[in-house]
Amino acid sequence: MNNNITIGGVVLKKTAALAPMAGVADRSYRLMCRKYGAAYTVSEMVSAKGICYSDKKTAELCTVTEGERPMGVQLFGSEPDFMAEAVKIVLDYDPDIIDINMGCPVPKVVNTGAGSSLMRDVPLAAEITEAAVKAAGNVPVTVKIRSGWTADSVNAVEMARALESSGAAAVVVHGRTRDQFYSGSADLGVIRAVKNAVNIPVIGNGDVTDSESCLKMYRETGCDLVMVGRGSYGNPFIFEEIEAALAGREYTPPSVEERMRVMLEHIRMMTDSSAKPEELAIHEARKHAAWYMNGYYGSAKFRGRCYQLSSYSEAEELAEEFIELQNSRMHKKIGETS
Ligand SMILES: Cc1cc2nc3c(=O)[nH]c(=O)nc-3n(C[C@H](O)[C@H](O)[C@H](O)COP(=O)(O)O)c2cc1C
Repeated sequence: MNNNITIGGVVLKKTAALAPMAGVADRSYRLMCRKYGAAYTVSEMVSAKGICYSDKKTAELCTVTEGERPMGVQLFGSEPDFMAEAVKIVLDYDPDIIDINMGCPVPKVVNTGAGSSLMRDVPLAAEITEAAVKAAGNVPVTVKIRSGWTADSVNAVEMARALESSGAAAVVVHGRTRDQFYSGSADLGVIRAVKNAVNIPVIGNGDVTDSESCLKMYRETGCDLVMVGRGSYGNPFIFEEIEAALAGREYTPPSVEERMRVMLEHIRMMTDSSAKPEELAIHEARKHAAWYMNGYYGSAKFRGRCYQLSSYSEAEELAEEFIELQNSRMHKKIGETS
């Protein structure tokens, strides 16, 4: 397998990329995933219209730091003119790639005609893409789509062909319809059909939670790159695991001590990088803390406690207690079997 792919001149490792996730994959999250080998990161989605009206959050959302590169900035919108204007503004932040969101299922976005609503209007999707490509100059424009709007109107192939003709440098395909939101499972057949229909790189997305499901995505779709969303919750290590599997290397998952150390590093990054007071930053870190503890003995009980964290030092105490619980359980188990 070739170890790199190229999107409009941007070279990416052919391992796994981090999916854009609003409210989750912020700067600290992206940095952490890059540290563990994510091939590429994407910003949280940003409103094209919001940027044009100089939304205060623009700089925070669009800034690209060196540690996050290669990184895309993702825009959503339903009007070609606003999209073109927004692209020009985003170029000031020097992103490696500009991505357009045509997959978001939430009513707030869909009701404005943006996100996955564009799956129902291929000509407009193409027009938006063309406007963005023209405005972006040398910076490649990619588009993230779903398999379709409903099970009866799966049109990812038609959509991808139109986007390719409009100058898109790659497409990301999340193998679910808008109707499914995040339920059911991703349809790898649709991703394969898109891969067979276009010449630009196709990035496969949906339900990759470990190296096994990643290899399956590569094998069954022939995609050029895999993108991981929820599988990275509290688990930036997934990128390291995938890289090892693709290289045929043995992989040892991190110990609970290592996980807690990384969790604290992640929380510290959130409190340090945020302009908000520590208590507010910790509020946002609570879900991440709970995710890092997922799958372990007693994690359900600890989840409740994570959701009450109000300072970094409390997180440290909780991590210590969590490690003690896991170790005492292990000793008990060894005692039981010896
Ligand atoms: C909390 C959350 C926020 C998301 N935000 C975005 C977003 O801003 N832009 C986007 O294109 N997709 C967004 N998505 C969709 C993901 O990028 C991805 O397509 C989806 O989660 C399926 O991949 P997965 O099964 O690996 O999670 C979001 C998903 C989640 C769960």
